[in-house]
Amino acid sequence: MKVGIVGAGMVGSSAGYALALMGIASEIVLVDQNSALALAQAEDIAHAVPFMSSTVVNAGGYRDLEGCGVVILAAGVSQKPGETRLELLGRNALVFHAVLREVLPVVPDAIFLIASNPVDIMTQITTRLSGIAPQRVIGSGTILDTARFRSLVGRHLGISPQSVHAYVLGEHGDSEVLAWSAARAGSVALSSFAAQVGSPLTETVRAGIDDGVRNAAYKIIKGKGSTYYGIGAGLARIVKAIGGDQRDVLTVSIATPEVAGVNDVALSIPRVVGAGGVVVDLFPDLEEAEYLALNRSASLLKQQADAVSI
Ligand code: 2OP
Repeated sequence: MKVGIVGAGMVGSSAGYALALMGIASEIVLVDQNSALALAQAEDIAHAVPFMSSTVVNAGGYRDLEGCGVVILAAGVSQKPGETRLELLGRNALVFHAVLREVLPVVPDAIFLIASNPVDIMTQITTRLSGIAPQRVIGSGTILDTARFRSLVGRHLGISPQSVHAYVLGEHGDSEVLAWSAARAGSVALSSFAAQVGSPLTETVRAGIDDGVRNAAYKIIKGKGSTYYGIGAGLARIVKAIGGDQRDVLTVSIATPEVAGVNDVALSIPRVVGAGGVVVDLFPDLEEAEYLALNRSASLLKQQADAVSI
């Protein structure tokens, strides 16, 4: 599968790098308004390929996206230290408006993967502007927050994050919801597993994990200016699910008719991802407090998306 990446900054190029290492695309094309940057990133990534795969990595213009099965949209600005994801909305909505005008005529049948923040609202806007079926306009959503959650829980329990089945729901941002009640280690309820291995999930431990997940990006941005390796790998993971029609359960964001009592909102819940994009939406059983938190997150996103005039 040919994969396009629009926006060759750190997020777009990290996605390209992860894709190239994983060898899951036959070709990657990087496009950026700064064509010298796109070319430099493509060449640098191409030099990693002989060690790992046979993916062809090129830079090009919008027309070179022709034939892409998936196009990752990573254009726009990212957060400055202390800035929230929602504060980027106005600037990135304008960027997407201009980018979609160029991209849509070239690849009307591609699946679009949205990475730019605030990712849920950018997903809603892209769905609105493109007229493409919502199942084919997928925001990376909380795929990264879910990875952060699994990583911290796995570390606490002394097991691989891949054996932790836990999800972060709602906004990829401050109002996100860690679904503790639905979390499992192997097939065992998290609290039971924690007690069996002598590492109880006390209120303090849970609060520390919640803080570690919710504020991970702020801490990283403070330390090094931006985050990109985690989301780059997350984007490549979604492309893998689509390219291989893997039917993986991933927390990604699409415009959804109703979530937690809120209509027509883009946010993350676990969804089955395959060749057609999102194939099935899954609504986890939640405790009342979690459901109410998801309702608050959905209401906030809906309010913000409705306020965007394009
Ligand atoms: C992240 O969570 C900033 O959204 C980006 O790493």
